[in-house]
Amino acid sequence: MLHHLSLVYLYNMSNKVAVGKSLGKIILLGEHSVVYGEPAIAIPFPSAEITTTITESDSVSLKCFNYDGQLADAPEVLLGLKTVIEKTFDEINQPLENVAINIESTIPAERGMGSSAAVANATVRAIYNYFNMQLSEQTLLKLVDISEKIVHGNPSGLDASIVVKERPLYYIKGQDFEQFSFSMDAYLIVADTGEKGNTKFAVSEVRKKYDSDDKYKQYVAQLGTLVNNAREVFIEKNPVKLGTIMNEAQSYLSALGVSNATIDNLVFTSLLHGALGAKLTGGGLGGCMIALVQDETVAKRVSEALITAGAHDTWVMKMESKGEI
Ligand code: PMV
Repeated sequence: MLHHLSLVYLYNMSNKVAVGKSLGKIILLGEHSVVYGEPAIAIPFPSAEITTTITESDSVSLKCFNYDGQLADAPEVLLGLKTVIEKTFDEINQPLENVAINIESTIPAERGMGSSAAVANATVRAIYNYFNMQLSEQTLLKLVDISEKIVHGNPSGLDASIVVKERPLYYIKGQDFEQFSFSMDAYLIVADTGEKGNTKFAVSEVRKKYDSDDKYKQYVAQLGTLVNNAREVFIEKNPVKLGTIMNEAQSYLSALGVSNATIDNLVFTSLLHGALGAKLTGGGLGGCMIALVQDETVAKRVSEALITAGAHDTWVMKMESKGEI
């Protein structure tokens, strides 16, 4: 599949301008256990969008989150992005010169919505577009993965796959992706705890536990079983059962040590106000949480309760796949 459609290419006065875009992602189930070969289910999150704009310039500059300066001087925290920019120019045999790269995001950084993968995805797309070159899905995945390896250490590849594919995925590390329909009569609320997560740290803490005691291996296996149970529930289109699975997943993630008091409070608040299930999403230890609710009225009630309980932002999406298969 080629990505011309998500790319915009235009000339502004005499200056060349190109744009690349990416959606964020939400992991419904299977974060952390996916690192150990268990399945995960993730969906694109259209409320979160990254736009990279490239314009002609007399140097190589980068504007991204809190940084605005020369690419060469970018801080350590942007190393994944800096490397993917360099590797993309290598890939297309172009000298890295005379470009201003500007990244704008509706996704807060480090909130478990795939922002690092989305930033890399939008930027690779913008660079290919700038040079008017066709970009295959395989090359895009390879390049986004370079950034993810730097940012996350040993990523499962789930974030990269979901932002590149822009489809709901049932994902097992190293295997072919399986797209599926997540349509059911329910709504998903995403809430930002306002705290930065740290996926690399969370993944390494889970690894230590996993290697130290068999009970943690069992928790990981249980999380995998829950994902497979959820797959059946998606066929049945049963939100009540999905909510129960989400609650069980949250218990195992808590037992693995990746929840925290803020997430627990928002999970509790959601359930108290009528959610069918609630859990963290992504790396945890901050970041975002999700809650499943039956209808729009409950969605509004839970969203308001989450904000009152301290969530910085909430988003509501209907559980429906576009272009179902
Ligand atoms: O924190 P995020 O949104 O980047 O998600 C990380 C998901 C993990 O399963 C914890 C790690 C991984 O590589 O899949």
